[in-house]
Amino acid sequence: MDSDVNRHFASATFVDAMKPVRSFASDNNAGVHPKVLQAISAVNGGHAVGYGDDAHTEAAVRKFRQHFGADIEVFIVFNGTAANCLSLKALTETYHAVICAEAAHIYTDECGAPEKFTGCKLIPIPTADGKLTVEAVSRAYHGIGDQHHVQPRVISITQATEMGTVYKPREVRDLAGFAHDRNMFLHMDGARIANAAVSLGLTLRQATRDLGVDVLSFGGTKNGAMGAEAVVFFDKKFSHDFLYLRKQGMQLASKMRYISAQLVALLTNDLWRKNAQHANRMAKLLQKEISRVPKVNIVYEVEANGVFAQIPRKATAKLQKRYFFYVWNEEQSLVRWMCSFDTTEQDVKQFAKFVAETING
Ligand SMILES: Cc1ncc(COP(=O)(O)O)c(C=O)c1O
Repeated sequence: MDSDVNRHFASATFVDAMKPVRSFASDNNAGVHPKVLQAISAVNGGHAVGYGDDAHTEAAVRKFRQHFGADIEVFIVFNGTAANCLSLKALTETYHAVICAEAAHIYTDECGAPEKFTGCKLIPIPTADGKLTVEAVSRAYHGIGDQHHVQPRVISITQATEMGTVYKPREVRDLAGFAHDRNMFLHMDGARIANAAVSLGLTLRQATRDLGVDVLSFGGTKNGAMGAEAVVFFDKKFSHDFLYLRKQGMQLASKMRYISAQLVALLTNDLWRKNAQHANRMAKLLQKEISRVPKVNIVYEVEANGVFAQIPRKATAKLQKRYFFYVWNEEQSLVRWMCSFDTTEQDVKQFAKFVAETING
């Protein structure tokens, strides 16, 4: 490596000796799984045709077909926001509405991109635990055929949810049934689909397509990729114009082989499953360790890789000095702690000890 570059990466500004190397802020803050890095490096020999017409993208598509069925269509994109926006765009016209949970990433954390990109109205529904129910959705299903009213077209659910809970298969099936009976479609934001499938003991296909999902935003980044997501169509009738939508949405990677290689790595020899299993197990361990700490309440079921805890308000800043993490709800003093494929038992125990000492010490 160039010596200036070496100096840059060795610079003290990257390393704070007071802080642990791994935090609980987000599974996005984790590094890249070594097998994914290896895969990126392995496809780095020579030239390959750009824009997805390369052997590695073909291999990625084959992997997706092995997991989800031979008759799917899959399109690789850079990030999860785009996977969601483009999925929704493929299912809607501008006068449609998308029903989602109030806590849905598409509603709270995508800067209005889904509305901008689709032109659709998002109808947010309050939930206790991040999960939509048929009962709640049916209350938002009105104005059908009324020219003054947007027409509900898509139910979008997040699996695992933003609150670390996981829809049971029956709950997804019921929402799909509700949608399909009304000429609507079910979109799944699967930024953490690996964590959800593992939590349910299902394959990727059983956790999505087999439950009636029409279009899946498949997440690789939180599962150990450097940056790799995909839109998976289980019915080709939605995907015929998608090539153009992806390009217009600025998501057509010229050097696509490097994104494809990451997805191949995750979908080979169950790496997706191992990574998610590990992250989920670390969240359970964190739950166990934290539940021993007085004055801390874990507020949602720990079903994937996140732990949500209500902590004494004045502890937050002190904890964040050493471990950065996000406050989920300021009013309720609710914080979010995420585990990832590279979280270790020692990380969890050290963190829980620090929380205990800070709050009760
Ligand atoms: C539930 C969910 N969906 C989608 C995303 C996609 O995000 P990004 O556009 O940052 O890849 C995230 C990222 O935090 C997420 O948590």
